[in-house]
Amino acid sequence: MRVLTGLQPSGKLHLGNYFSAIKKILDYQSKEELFLFIANLHALTTFRSKEELKEYTIGCAIDLLALGVDPNKTVFWVQSDVPEVTELTWYLSQSITVSQLQLAHSFKDKVAKGFVPGAGLFTYPILMASDILLFSAEKVPVGKDQKQHLEFARDIAERFNTQFGSVLTIPEPDIDENTATVPGVDGAKMSKSYQNTIDFFGTEKEIKKKVMSIVSDSKAIEEPKNPEESVIFQIHSLFLSDTEKESQKQKYTNGGFGYGDLKKDLLESILSHFAPFRSKREELSQNLDYVHSVLKSGKEKAKEVAEKKLDAIRNTLGIYPF
Ligand code: ADP
Ligand code: TRP
Repeated sequence: MRVLTGLQPSGKLHLGNYFSAIKKILDYQSKEELFLFIANLHALTTFRSKEELKEYTIGCAIDLLALGVDPNKTVFWVQSDVPEVTELTWYLSQSITVSQLQLAHSFKDKVAKGFVPGAGLFTYPILMASDILLFSAEKVPVGKDQKQHLEFARDIAERFNTQFGSVLTIPEPDIDENTATVPGVDGAKMSKSYQNTIDFFGTEKEIKKKVMSIVSDSKAIEEPKNPEESVIFQIHSLFLSDTEKESQKQKYTNGGFGYGDLKKDLLESILSHFAPFRSKREELSQNLDYVHSVLKSGKEKAKEVAEKKLDAIRNTLGIYPF
């Protein structure tokens, strides 16, 4: 089965990305045919600077390789390296209406926050559908926040197949409804856009600062605390086995441990979990030629699939040359 997903290089990876998207991707890598790309064209919709886009694009590649993406098993490339995707975006844009796009939650949310949207932000879901349909992806693992984008991709494919001829594979979303949204240090959804992330590839000092800033109530050290209501515990439990979770819970309910102590426990879990990945990342940062060579070979493999598919689609539409 062909599984495909993309990650936007719009900031540093955080625990929310890791425990939902990345863990799942790594799981698929060992079982299915995985296509994985860095969605740098999507990141243009919230572009800040050339330097930042470059840094995050290569940073994202290094991060994913450090975390275990294996280029021998996975087709791994940067979205802009296969420009066929932008041509397909144009074709697909005939198969979705403006009023459908106006219903996009992610678009409406950004506008509601005062962001002045470019047309690119409005047509973002079409580019995403193109990513998926160009590679005939059968399954697309994404977070809950991408559910509607996946529905758009399916609608677009179905409508296109009806309008022009049946060439597109209808993708199945893979959304784990049980994966809780990882909270950020302020208790809201952890997200780059809210500046409430814990970035596990930051320096130890940065990670510590973030962990120590997690919101808590003002219960004194000796008072019993409710783990279910604690953002510290919610994050910590992601690292713990069931038995470890139980004993950590005791520390909350028994009292005698202040939030500072509980945060230190969490910090320790984060640092020990990511230690091997952090040293691999360090090594890769010193060997950028290797990283670029991996992306180049991924591009070649992705391009081969994309060219073939795009030819079939052009054919279905009657695009010149015949
Ligand atoms: P961000 O919200 O920080 O911009 P992205 O939109 O780049 O994150 O998300 C990349 C992937 O990580 C998506 O699959 C998304 O659903 C998932 N993800 C992001 N934040 C969280 C979170 N707090 N909890 C669970 N999954 C998340
Ligand atoms: N929109 C996705 C996100 O922000 C990233 C993405 C772009 C993607 N193209 C995709 C995910 C295709 C899955 C399939 O998380």
